[in-house]
Amino acid sequence: MSYLDDVSPGHGALPPRAAFTSDARSLCLDGDWQFHLSPSPADAPAGFELDSFDATDWPTLPVPSNWQMHGHGQPAYTNHLYPFPVDPPYVPSDNPTGDYRVEFSVPWDGPTVLRFEGIDSCGRVWLNGVELGVTRGSRLPVEFDVTGVLKARNLLAVRVHQWSSGSYLEDQDMWWLSGIFRSVTVLERPVGGVPDFFLRASYDHVAGTGRVEVETDANAVLSIPELGIDAPVGQPIDVGLVEPWTAETPRLYDGVLATDTERVPVRIGFRTVSIEDGLLKVNGRRILLKGVNRHEHHPDLGRAVPYVLAREDVLLMKRHNINAVRTSHYPPDPRFLDLCDELGLWVVDECDLETHGFTEVGWERNPSDDPQWTSAYLDRMSRMVERDKNHPSVILWSLGNESHTGRNLAEMASWTRQRDDTRPVHYEGDYDCAYVDVYSRMYMTHAEVEEIGQAQGMPFILCEYAHAMGNGPGGLLEYRDLFEKYPRCQGGFVWEWIDHGIRQQDANGREFFAYGGDFGELIHDGSFVIDGLVFPDRTPSPGLVEYAKVIEPVRIDGRRVTNHYDFRTLAHLDFDWILEEDGQERAAGTLDLPTVHPGQSTDLPFPELPATAKESWLTIRAHTREDTPWAAKGHVVAWGQVNVTPRPATTTRPARPFDHTPGTLLGIPVEEPRLDLWRAPTENDRPENERAWRDAGLHRLQHRVVSDETTGMSRVVRTRVAPPARAQGMAVTYTWTASDAAVHLNVTIEPEGEWPVLPRLGLRMALPGGYDQVEWFGLGPNEAYADSRTSARVGRFRKSVDDLQTPYVFPQENGNRADTRWLELTDNGTGLRIEGAFDFTARRWTTEDLDKAAHTHELEPGHWIHLNLDIAQNGLGSASCGPGVLPKYQLHARKTAIELTFRQVTPALPG
Ligand code: GAL
Repeated sequence: MSYLDDVSPGHGALPPRAAFTSDARSLCLDGDWQFHLSPSPADAPAGFELDSFDATDWPTLPVPSNWQMHGHGQPAYTNHLYPFPVDPPYVPSDNPTGDYRVEFSVPWDGPTVLRFEGIDSCGRVWLNGVELGVTRGSRLPVEFDVTGVLKARNLLAVRVHQWSSGSYLEDQDMWWLSGIFRSVTVLERPVGGVPDFFLRASYDHVAGTGRVEVETDANAVLSIPELGIDAPVGQPIDVGLVEPWTAETPRLYDGVLATDTERVPVRIGFRTVSIEDGLLKVNGRRILLKGVNRHEHHPDLGRAVPYVLAREDVLLMKRHNINAVRTSHYPPDPRFLDLCDELGLWVVDECDLETHGFTEVGWERNPSDDPQWTSAYLDRMSRMVERDKNHPSVILWSLGNESHTGRNLAEMASWTRQRDDTRPVHYEGDYDCAYVDVYSRMYMTHAEVEEIGQAQGMPFILCEYAHAMGNGPGGLLEYRDLFEKYPRCQGGFVWEWIDHGIRQQDANGREFFAYGGDFGELIHDGSFVIDGLVFPDRTPSPGLVEYAKVIEPVRIDGRRVTNHYDFRTLAHLDFDWILEEDGQERAAGTLDLPTVHPGQSTDLPFPELPATAKESWLTIRAHTREDTPWAAKGHVVAWGQVNVTPRPATTTRPARPFDHTPGTLLGIPVEEPRLDLWRAPTENDRPENERAWRDAGLHRLQHRVVSDETTGMSRVVRTRVAPPARAQGMAVTYTWTASDAAVHLNVTIEPEGEWPVLPRLGLRMALPGGYDQVEWFGLGPNEAYADSRTSARVGRFRKSVDDLQTPYVFPQENGNRADTRWLELTDNGTGLRIEGAFDFTARRWTTEDLDKAAHTHELEPGHWIHLNLDIAQNGLGSASCGPGVLPKYQLHARKTAIELTFRQVTPALPG
């Protein structure tokens, strides 16, 4: 049997240990290595590991990297389907094999190890022609002892196979990408140094004191200068009063663990995780997880995510009120956890394990319950736990994802508990909670969460929910309500952080992001890999802005403010207010708040406000008083609005005779408004509604004019709008009148027959492309939909038509601005003003074009601006994976009307 088919974890590796740096010397081998890709192991060159081998004509490849991202082979995407036959432990003979060579010398003698942080999927390693071993477990570290093998000049050779028995355990929903994709280092290991250590720092929330226990084979002393600690390890060390570590207040104490020959800097966070009264607690308090699932992805580099971007991820999360991350579905680059310790995020550290593809064969021969694989499972868990055990941010260990259930998972859990009794164990697939400490599920409906909330049992978390694919998710607010209503429901992790799009250019050099199928894969899952809260280039999507608003740690509700932090008061925030009339500032000021403890509310102390006549809103903002490591002073953490002067009722104006020049409105060439029911299906519409919509012909309505009469004061156009081949229709009457310099349109809509839930209900029209400067008073500045509009505020906003678009990687309905009171589209100050109560979208292509496009660069701007003025749109829901649109956000055909006033906009006179 080839080592590729061997189910063992590999051979030759040293026992796993914590990731740490010290004053011992080290050499980072990252850089350009010689590289050669063969289509199969059989084609790979013999003897490449030897000094005598001639590799002079090999190209170089950066280490760390995924070779497919550098022109060797192609990325391939499947969600859970194995791209090879389900025939464990065998993998295809056509198994891309990358050979790596690098030369180096180390400036020291003595004990030395060679450490790989990640090789996908299987590596065989030689140093100076001597085989060190074979490793599997792609996103886990491995070390080899190279003492005695090192010479003055060294040749490191690594043969990496895309597929191995390990691939059966690594069926995560992501691109299949291979190679040495994390750092490689050579580490001096001083005799008498610190081989490994397990530092447990706990916090007694009653006494306010900390305690440190260091488990190590070293004869070491721990010093924490700030606490006056300098004590030999081996016994628990009571350190007296400390500030605890929490994700909100990530207080770290710098210390040093030292022997005579090695000094290891440590960053200590005092915190205690417990499960008490059926609740997951930290430092004695229930925490609420406002989390995301994070994969490692970069649009040009794949899973070799540079440190600065990992840092950017954490900063972005912090700035969007996210307090937790699940490292789906493998341990991240170890430096990511340093960032979580430093900046403050609760971490569910997940093992590199997923066997989801066995679902296709009824879970038969699933490794999770097969004793042959026990050592591979335990190896993976121990490599994660040992590596990450010293991180205060890690509060739960997760066994893996979507691997069904079985004895090997149970063994992982019991090994973990015996190794580390300070953190509970998580695994979603254990529905019966036989071997986990928290109950965890994914994509449950609101109703199911409610039911769980009402029952007794373990702490409950949604390790995945609110599938952020394309435009969405909708329904976040209703989940929040449940997490706040039921103590047991302790929040969850939105799926997922980032769209895994891969940056490409078309033949004309236009950039776009590719997804499954774009690389000619035989089997793939299309755009299912594009389901993040940030776009592939890490630009926040509207979904992230909405999530940030929904999970605000401070709730400003009318004139009350509530502290939703779990640990902090609001003392680090400043509050201010601004009064706007018709979207324009009238007055502003600051507010002084008393101390508000977690969970408490208080009235906002407003001053007397000036009287206003037009619709007016008071906006209150809470922002950071000082610079923080994750945001500059003034960063807005939360806001709220209060309506102080309602919208005045419209006044009646004297009518004048109505005259009509076909194809124009107030002198502007237009396509006249007419009924529209269609939107380019979102990813969430596709499984839930798209079929019913196309079946009902909503995308190809026909308009029949029944009568068109102009009688002095008005023009009345009666129509019947209906799909081909169907009997249902809508009676739509357009009544045009005029007054002063305005034209009024009243449209009544009366459905006949059966209609499905509608995508939208309103009017579409078009005007020339030059009228592309948009200003409106209504909800903004971001797009908003019925079940995703918490983050939109009432105000006056300006954007160009181009900037109104949200470039979802897979083109779909986007850019809706809700609850508009008035809207102006102008070209150099001249144009059209539309007043009423409506939602709008404006784009340079039609809904049909948007519907047809599969990538952003396929959308070609035309000569018109296509404007939709809607009574309503259907909600978004989360049906791409999870529940659909909640009933209260569904748009049903009904008898309704819309009233609009059109005016000409002329440039304001100077002075
Ligand atoms: C879950 C899975 C994730 C992802 C998600 C859908 O079942 O754990 O990895 O596939 O569904 O995007």
